[in-house]
Amino acid sequence: MPLLTRRNLLKASAVAGAYGAGIAIAGKFGLAEAAPEPQLLTAVKTEAVLTKAGPTRNIMSWGHEGMPPVLRMTKGRRYAARLKNELDEPTTIHWHGLRIDNRMDGVPFVTQPYIYTGDSFDYAFTPPDAGTFWYHPHCNTLTQMGHGMTGMLIVEDPADPEFDAEVLLNLRDWRLGGDGQFIAPFRPRDAAKSGTYGTLRTANWRQEPQYDAPAGGLVRLRIAITDVTRIFSLKMVGAEATAIAIDGNPVPKRFPLDLLQIGPGQRLDLAVRMPDEEGAVATLEDIRGTAPKTIASLRSMGASLKRDIGDLGPLGQNPVPALDLSAAEQIPLVLSATAENAAAQSICGTLGYSFWAINKVPWPGDTPDPTAPLAELKLGKSYVFNLENTTPHAHPIHLHGMSFTVISSSTREVMTLVSDTYLVQPDEKVQLALVADNLGDWVLHCHIIEHQKTGMTSYVRVS
Ligand code: C2O
Ligand code: CU
Repeated sequence: MPLLTRRNLLKASAVAGAYGAGIAIAGKFGLAEAAPEPQLLTAVKTEAVLTKAGPTRNIMSWGHEGMPPVLRMTKGRRYAARLKNELDEPTTIHWHGLRIDNRMDGVPFVTQPYIYTGDSFDYAFTPPDAGTFWYHPHCNTLTQMGHGMTGMLIVEDPADPEFDAEVLLNLRDWRLGGDGQFIAPFRPRDAAKSGTYGTLRTANWRQEPQYDAPAGGLVRLRIAITDVTRIFSLKMVGAEATAIAIDGNPVPKRFPLDLLQIGPGQRLDLAVRMPDEEGAVATLEDIRGTAPKTIASLRSMGASLKRDIGDLGPLGQNPVPALDLSAAEQIPLVLSATAENAAAQSICGTLGYSFWAINKVPWPGDTPDPTAPLAELKLGKSYVFNLENTTPHAHPIHLHGMSFTVISSSTREVMTLVSDTYLVQPDEKVQLALVADNLGDWVLHCHIIEHQKTGMTSYVRVS
């Protein structure tokens, strides 16, 4: 909790001074400053060239420049955005992984009204954590995200070690026909299984892009899985890659990327040590499925910088509150399949089916008739979610507004990762512990959007 100490006040006024004026007031996480000029994000329908077949119509993005802008903010600094809706349907923005004020969380009916065509909404918050995050709508998500609205969001920590280059990869697919135009966003029989895959894979809206980086240098490769369905098994070929952060948070112990499975909603930061020879290529591959697929590659340029991964200092820690496991209440969270209750119509889209449930309740989310909360949490107390997957499919389970720590799994050894999304495997039981340190109703759902929208959604209430 923020403490209004003299030292913090001094720090806060120094920061506020950077914006000219500003009155230091105590904010939820740290101290708030006067709001900066909002960054304008205009939700639009547009066109983009994704295939050789010519421009794809009915692309959705923020602005007409193709891929959504990469948003950059600084840890502990106030940020503001004005969402203007020029789509012909309602929308919102959710800032995936940011632990911010509930009113800024972007979930229609739960945290804010949806934003109608022609209307605007001002978001303003202070990101407490540095790392790789992303943003997307929380209304009619299978369509809006499927058509392009998945953007990367970077929160910088000025104290982070220096890299020789930074490369961002926004990984997602598109469901396009041979003519380059959108086809049906999903097939019900697949929604009832692992989800419907796209037909075209892209990184930064391009197929197998290649980026230049200094030979022998250290590259910070920030990867976000923003696809609505696809789980990746990542592998780097031709260079040493070290995992330094997962889901925005530094890993407790760095490890070489051998093969890492990450699901929709998750992020991975790698430190890639480029090959010494000019022209050598390092390739990021997805080896899930039959044949390995190239995602993107990095090419060494110039004389070797001869850097060593050991030279890289630690990333700054994020200020996640300390758990009190001795007093933590246990909360069951069981994922199952269901055939009950076809989803009701909703202005934020319905898929018309109910296939999944959390603690036996199917709820598609983004509807005006929420179910009862999964649990009522007391502000400041510790809890353990006993997440159990009774289905034969993996589910990336995402919690809004708070970070959890992975403490144990029934099937494998786990790192004590701090995260907002856990990819729970079939028949796995996992314990996720958290301090309920953020007031409000926070949704929790599978980030395979077809699962989310056909029942695998719920929420917790912190009061
Ligand atoms: Cu990234 Cu509720 O989601
Ligand atoms: Cu799922």
